[in-house]
Amino acid sequence: MEISELTQGFIDVFDNQPTDYFFAPGRINLIGEHTDYNGGHVFPCAISLGTYAAVRANDSHEFHFYSGNFPEDDVLTVSGNPGTPKSGRWVDYAQGMLAELAKNGAEYSHGLDVYIKGDLPDGAGLSSSASLEMLIGEIANHMFALDVPMLQRVRLGQQVENNYVGVNSGIMDQFAVGMGQANTATLLDTNTMEYKRLPLDLGDNVVLIMNTNKQRQLTDSKYNERRGECEAALAKLQTKLDIASLGELSAEQFDEYSYLIPAENELKRARHAVLENKRTLRAAQALLDRDLATFGRLVSASGVSLQFDYEVTGKELDTLVRAALNQEGVLGARMTGAGFGGCAIALVRKAAVDAVIATVGQTYKEVIGYPASFYVANIADGPRELDVQARKA
Ligand code: GLA
Repeated sequence: MEISELTQGFIDVFDNQPTDYFFAPGRINLIGEHTDYNGGHVFPCAISLGTYAAVRANDSHEFHFYSGNFPEDDVLTVSGNPGTPKSGRWVDYAQGMLAELAKNGAEYSHGLDVYIKGDLPDGAGLSSSASLEMLIGEIANHMFALDVPMLQRVRLGQQVENNYVGVNSGIMDQFAVGMGQANTATLLDTNTMEYKRLPLDLGDNVVLIMNTNKQRQLTDSKYNERRGECEAALAKLQTKLDIASLGELSAEQFDEYSYLIPAENELKRARHAVLENKRTLRAAQALLDRDLATFGRLVSASGVSLQFDYEVTGKELDTLVRAALNQEGVLGARMTGAGFGGCAIALVRKAAVDAVIATVGQTYKEVIGYPASFYVANIADGPRELDVQARKA
C-alpha cells in the first residue's frame, strides 16, 4: 500500500492532512489449529498483508472511522466508552478495543479521525479482525502515549472478541499479529503463555496462501459449537483425570481414558485437540532440524485431522488442499485459521510455485465454479507506526 493512497483517502474523507500512519499485519498459522482454547500449542506468523491507517487528532471527543474497504458505511462515529452497544459493523472491533483500553485506565483527551485501508482479504481466515484490533491498539498507544505493553494489548484484543463481538476465540490471532517478527514463526504454549521464536528457514520453499474466496458462513456459531464439544469432552475426562485442559494430555493418556467419552463428535474433537497439540511440537522440532519433509507431512496430517475429526473444512478447502497435495513440489498443505472457508496454506518449492498456482487454480475453478486466489506469504513484523520520512528517503 502506498502512503500516498492513504493520504489521499484521508483528505477525501476528512478534508484535512493526516499526521500519523500505522500498520498491523494479518497472520497465518503454520500448524496448531483449534488448540489455543484447549490449552495447547500454536505456531503462527504475521504476514505482510494487513491493515493500514492514516490518523489525525480532532478537537472533539469522538472517534471518526472510515474504511476504504467498506465505503458504503461512510464515516462511523464511536465514543470509545465502555458499555457502548455493538453496531454489527466492522467498527465494533475499533470501538471494542478503545473501550477495553479505557477499562484498563486509558484516557482519551481528544478524538481522532482515522482512515483505514487493508489489503487482507476480508473474512478469509487471515485475521483481518485481530489486525484491526491490534492496529487500534497501536494507534491509541502512540496518539495518547498510553504505554500499554504489547502482550496486554494482545489480551485486550481477545477480550474484544470474547466479551463484545461474542466469539469465544482463543489468544492465537491477536498474539500472532501483535508479536509478529519478520522471518520468524512463534511457538506459543497457550496454557502458560510461554513462547519461543523460531527462524522460519524454509530453504528453497515458500508458504503459498490459497484463498477459497468462499464467503464465511456460520463461522462464529460453528466455532463456538466446536469449543463447546471440547469442553464437554474435557468435563468427562475430568471425572477421572486431574487436568485443566486437553492440552495437558499425552496421546497415550488420551487413548487410555477415551472410554469416558461415549459421544462420537466429542471424541473426535478431543482427539484432534490432543494429537494436534503434540503434532505442533513435533513440527516445530522438525523445522528446527531443517527437516522440511517431516514438517510438511505434519502440516498435511493436521489438515486431515481438521477435515475428518474436527470437521471444519468443507468442499472448497478440501478441493484446494487435495489439488495442492497432488502436485510435484508440494511438501504439505492444510487449511489455516478457523476454517469453514477462508484460506489454506501449502509449503511449496519456489521453482514449482507458478505451476502449482496454475494447476490448483484450474482444478478449483472446474470443481467449485469460481476462482481461488493465491499469495506467496511474506513473514513480517508486528504492529508499528510507519515512518513516512524514512519511507520517502
Ligand atoms: C480463529 C480463532 C483463534 C483460533 C483459530 C483456530 O482464528 O480466532 O483463536 O482458535 O480460529 O485455530
